[in-house]
Amino acid sequence: MKFFIDTANLDEIREAAEFGILDGVTTNPSLMAKVGVSGKKNILDHYVKICELVDGDVSAEVVATDFKGIIKEGEELAELHPNIVVKVPMIPDGVKAIKYFYEKGIRTNCTLVFSAGQAILAAKAGATYVSPFIGRLDDISTDGMALIEQIVTIYNNYGFDTQVLAASVRHPMHIIQSALIGADVVTCPLSAIKALFNHPLTDIGLEKFLADYKKANPEA
Ligand code: E4P
Repeated sequence: MKFFIDTANLDEIREAAEFGILDGVTTNPSLMAKVGVSGKKNILDHYVKICELVDGDVSAEVVATDFKGIIKEGEELAELHPNIVVKVPMIPDGVKAIKYFYEKGIRTNCTLVFSAGQAILAAKAGATYVSPFIGRLDDISTDGMALIEQIVTIYNNYGFDTQVLAASVRHPMHIIQSALIGADVVTCPLSAIKALFNHPLTDIGLEKFLADYKKANPEA
């Protein structure tokens, strides 16, 4: 399973990368706005900075919604760095653009996926990744994890190469359940990654080991 961080915050990316477990980064326009990056040049520069921090795929999202606009923006993003994956929304022109990018050898992440039918379209068009949003489905009392399960089953049934990237992750159980189902990638906020470390028995056990060591080595 690949582990991506879902942020545009360079400090958070650096912190996660230092754990040595990071395989990539996903961003979106909201995450870029959250870190105060605006204006075309600043946005493009920021993507390059992210690519320089992580040796892995970095999803950069287009904001155009028409075929020509998506192609123009996507080609520009793809030229920034070999690690860039063009993130394209699940809309008819987006699917058309994903097919175009596939034929040009440009990798894509089909975002804003909320149904198995949409995931089929993304795979048929040749998306590199499909991003089903677990948390946002859970937020409206719909089982986000069930969608991950459906997509993994469908892609396995037909041998689609598109990788299932579990997105909109809110907590560590989303990560664990995605891994159990067999999602190829999980993209998580730093808080969810860090929460994976925690177990009270680890803390209690470490405290005891260190206390016993100190008792046996009073001079240390
Ligand atoms: C990542 O690719 C998605 O844009 C992101 O996970 C959405 O997460 P949110 O629902 O927490 O905004």
